[in-house]
Amino acid sequence: MRVYDIIFKKRNGQKLLKEEIDFLIFKYNNGDMPDYQMSAFLMATFLNGMDDDETFLLTDAMINSGDRMDLSFLDMPIADKHSTGGVGDGTSFIVLPIVASLGICVPMIAGRGLGHTGGTLDKLESIPGFRTSIDKKEFIDILESSGAAIIGQTFEIAPVDKKMYALRDSTATVESISLISASIMSKKIAEGAKSLVLDIKAGSGAFMKKDSDAKKLAQKMINIGKNFGLNILAVVTDMNSPLGNCVGNSLEIEQAINILKGKLKNDLSELSIYLSALMILNVKKTSSLKEAQDLAQKQIDNGKALEKFTEIIRLQGGNTKVVDNPDDVLPKAKYSKRFMAKKSGYISNIDTRSVGIAEMLTGAGREKKEDKIDYSAGIIFHKKLNEYVKKDEAIADLIYNSSDHIDEAEMIMSDAYIIYNNEDKNINMAGKVYDKRIIELL
Ligand code: URA
Repeated sequence: MRVYDIIFKKRNGQKLLKEEIDFLIFKYNNGDMPDYQMSAFLMATFLNGMDDDETFLLTDAMINSGDRMDLSFLDMPIADKHSTGGVGDGTSFIVLPIVASLGICVPMIAGRGLGHTGGTLDKLESIPGFRTSIDKKEFIDILESSGAAIIGQTFEIAPVDKKMYALRDSTATVESISLISASIMSKKIAEGAKSLVLDIKAGSGAFMKKDSDAKKLAQKMINIGKNFGLNILAVVTDMNSPLGNCVGNSLEIEQAINILKGKLKNDLSELSIYLSALMILNVKKTSSLKEAQDLAQKQIDNGKALEKFTEIIRLQGGNTKVVDNPDDVLPKAKYSKRFMAKKSGYISNIDTRSVGIAEMLTGAGREKKEDKIDYSAGIIFHKKLNEYVKKDEAIADLIYNSSDHIDEAEMIMSDAYIIYNNEDKNINMAGKVYDKRIIELL
């Protein structure tokens, strides 16, 4: 068998066999196949796609490139959730303590931010001392004592995905339904989750711009999960405006603490309760979604979710004083610049990807993997999508230490926000109504 022939077959739109996919992934993982051949294969797959059988086989081959954890000895339901990424998506560290406080084990392996999307690991690392680089033994020890941990891909969980993702990122082959499905599902299955909730984002701040593509991605991932025996649910959610009241690493941690204290309610808290409820329902702890939502809310109201978050911070080496005094513990930026409305009207459209880019330019994100980030930088929103704003009223504050790219960030924000002074506040420029986050539960 030759790698060339497999690329040739995919280039011509033919279906690949198990032995071909296994051979290709095995060779690439072992360093016996050059990046230029994998790049050609990725582009052929991007252009011609893979059917459900091939995507399942690719996922299986990627899982087999590393360890597959067996956490069944923990004697607890083992659940996880994955969001496909967006702007201000800080649901993971709100959902995880809510769900884990109910005795559900959550072995979460999360990622870093790149380009316009933020990363859960970066946000958590803005808490002084918080470690996400944890080996397998310590990960299992933490899971045994607290039932939850959030770590980076530090040991051999689908290692080939790391190499393939880096190549996809530099060869414009990220937004492929088959490749995204295999990438995410290989990691989730290898980490040992038995129950999975997927939050598939759709809109201007997501990989999938159209609801119909997000649904196709969700369905593909559900099919793979079912083939591996997972209890799996997927929900398509809207990413046509940033989630929550701010973006930025320490800003989002402070916001999450306020949500877990029950002091703040917004679209992020609502989505977090909803995703927690899906996880609770999916492990059959309740028999209805409503009951599960009430239970998730109860864990906030009785302080149990906040207690669990404090425990996770302590076990992962973070300064737990952050919970009582986030202002004293989290890094703070020196400067802020107000971004104001140029005219009165309703905010009828937000190019959410651009807001993510503006966030990156404050210093809060990275353009290239090796860039350093400023944990204290970001954006605080004063007005959300569909809200009325008066001329010269504040829409957002840019928060920063280095002013190197602030003028550019402000220009990008200015192009990203469309203000419409027609009285019909629910119609954006694309003529679509955006009044809720949940698009469809599959
Ligand atoms: N997140 C992943 O882990 N993989 C992808 O391909 C896209 C998002």
